[in-house]
Amino acid sequence: MTDPATGTAFDDPETLRKRALAALLTARERTALLTSCVEDAELTAQHSTLMSPLVWDLAHIGNQEEQWLLRAVAGRAAMRPEIDGLYDAFEHPRAERPSLPLLPPAEARTYAAEVRGRALDVLETTAFQGHGDRLTEAGFVFGMVAQHEQQHDETMLITHQLRKGPVALTAPDPVPAHAFTGPAEVLVPGGPFTMGTSTEPWALDNERPAHARLVPPFWIDTTPVTNEAYQAFIADGGYEDPRWWDPQGWSHIRAHSIGAPLFWRRDGGQWLRRRFGATEVVPPNEPVLHVSWYEADAYARWAGRRLPSEAEWEKAARHDPETGRSTRYPWGDADPTPEHANLGQRHLRPAPAGSYPEGQSPLGVRQLIGDVWEWTSSELLPYPGFGAFPYKEYSEVFFGSEHKVLRGGSFAVDAVACRGTFRNWDYPVRRQIFSGFRTARDAHPDGD
Ligand code: AVJ
Ligand code: FE
Repeated sequence: MTDPATGTAFDDPETLRKRALAALLTARERTALLTSCVEDAELTAQHSTLMSPLVWDLAHIGNQEEQWLLRAVAGRAAMRPEIDGLYDAFEHPRAERPSLPLLPPAEARTYAAEVRGRALDVLETTAFQGHGDRLTEAGFVFGMVAQHEQQHDETMLITHQLRKGPVALTAPDPVPAHAFTGPAEVLVPGGPFTMGTSTEPWALDNERPAHARLVPPFWIDTTPVTNEAYQAFIADGGYEDPRWWDPQGWSHIRAHSIGAPLFWRRDGGQWLRRRFGATEVVPPNEPVLHVSWYEADAYARWAGRRLPSEAEWEKAARHDPETGRSTRYPWGDADPTPEHANLGQRHLRPAPAGSYPEGQSPLGVRQLIGDVWEWTSSELLPYPGFGAFPYKEYSEVFFGSEHKVLRGGSFAVDAVACRGTFRNWDYPVRRQIFSGFRTARDAHPDGD
């Protein structure tokens, strides 16, 4: 991979190998914590029909690693061919998984550890360059497997949030920010920009290839929408007024008596929320979390605004108006540090709106990376020139109008699975995920 500005390689094979090793180790440390902080009985229980038992995620992580690193790369035989079907996400929907003959916790741990031991040998001996094999070129498949484990670590954290019972996980809160006093919105100039990537070595198939997109000028919120702003929507009767709602969203909130973000509860004069087993007053200055696409869309309409499209979001996050090129992150091409963004479950909540000045975009848009996944108005569609790689069940089978795209990552996702081009998606009714949003509006061609 080369730096598009200077043309110099900044990721030689040996650097990438070290990054792959570090990414795999970081992921496993998190997996171990998420599956050891509760009793084994809690690993086999189903805490919500939306989620797998934690012990399923654990063995599925090992099984995917075995399939890609041991079988596809190293040509090894299946260690336990009889379990493949159990951990195939397409064979068994989540609700069904607790009734499967899953590996019990101790066996699941041993299996994942045995796979890992062998995978580290494969990592050491695999050429990252010059084999003409797309799977191993630049260590892609190792990066893919580390991302897969981190995605399930986020999934498991969602399960922890849904779980009833006392606190099992703790982390320091983000450093409180000075109250943000900058402008509420930023003008992104119109014109073409480069969306997607053809150079990021571990970008997944749906982020590829890089292509030009014409985006007319628009205004976008400087920060994600806060709880305080969202409470104003509730207080104004937002959930009782069909004018703000997509008709399907309206039927959904009526049918399910939804009147606030998931995990919120009204107590006397205030809103409380449950967070990883503890209850707290909803913090006014934090980005709103656990809202569906329908709720985000309704809020935006109530506010006289709209959700940004996926292309608008990416342009706000990657387009550098000075050079005209797209960077890997809002702050440039450097990998994220704790000063740039709230990632990696370092904190178990989003940071106050306006935090992370070092992570802002050239135009001053903040918190695009980390904190909360941001709903966009867009459906998950392939980019022009898309090719499924290495398997069509990662993204291709999800393309279409059923899923809306989320961008930017949350506090719960690790940096290896988060970048300016990364695309996430879910059904528009879903809100157990770490989802929030920001709003946008059209700008007039002369810029206002
Ligand atoms: C990209 C987050 C929607 O969790 O369904 C994990 C990631 N794919 N294992 C999901 C994924 C296969 C995926 N999302
Ligand atoms: Fe998976």
